[in-house]
Amino acid sequence: MLKLHNLSKIYQTDEVETVALNNVNIEIERGEFVSIMGPSGCGKSTLLNIIGMLDSPSEGHYYFADHDVARLKEKQLSDIRKQNIGFIFQNFNLIDELSVQDNIELALLYHDIKASERKERVAAVMDKVGIAHRAKHMPSQLSGGQQQRVAVARAVVGDQALILADEPTGNLDSAHGQEVMEMLQSLNEEGTTIIMVTHSPSHADYAHRTINLFDGQVVTENVHVADLAYAN
Ligand SMILES: Nc1ncnc2c1ncn2[C@@H]1O[C@H](COP(=O)(O)OP(=O)(O)O)[C@@H](O)[C@H]1O
Ligand SMILES: [Mg+2]
Repeated sequence: MLKLHNLSKIYQTDEVETVALNNVNIEIERGEFVSIMGPSGCGKSTLLNIIGMLDSPSEGHYYFADHDVARLKEKQLSDIRKQNIGFIFQNFNLIDELSVQDNIELALLYHDIKASERKERVAAVMDKVGIAHRAKHMPSQLSGGQQQRVAVARAVVGDQALILADEPTGNLDSAHGQEVMEMLQSLNEEGTTIIMVTHSPSHADYAHRTINLFDGQVVTENVHVADLAYAN
């Protein structure tokens, strides 16, 4: 599905140069569930932002499906991103002024879908994540766990093939964190590719493999024993 080849990201501010990613090579297949771990500041969010086409590398190549991402024009890039990639963040990133259903529907406005079908798809995905009874609530009226369910719904309502989750359970208690993990796992079982940054070893274990980053470099990759069948 995607491939990063000798990819580096250097942030240049006034006098400081920060190497956020240093010669990273990663390949991820369609249908995989991959977790990314590593200490704060090691480049995890930078990596996810580049994979999500929100940021571009300083050096190296990023291939998504059959595209060399650096060669895409702005419009193609944003179309490919919106059609294929859903994001889930630690802080949910919902729009405070919009209801649950409107937050989710927003992800469909960029697609060429009739209003009636939009409503149907939003209703179906709210059912799926168990938030239908809060459709007209505002985000501030929901618990963190409920807000993250809305964010998951928003990330998948457009049938995105890839979900990028940056510490999706970081602000949740363990029960709600586990709920979100089970939701991601079932989406993956239905075919969605998932790349998730986490600090929790037990949450990383939901993935097929874990990529460990340190100082912007991939240091180890572990295939989880329970998933060896997948690796074959
Ligand atoms: N926009 C930016 N400008 C300058 N430096 C940045 C920027 N974003 C991230 N960095 C630096 O790049 C490094 C990696 O950051 P980040 O990817 O956010 O790490 P992580 O998500 O693993 O905590 C850090 O040293 C951080 O300070
Ligand atoms: Mg981060």
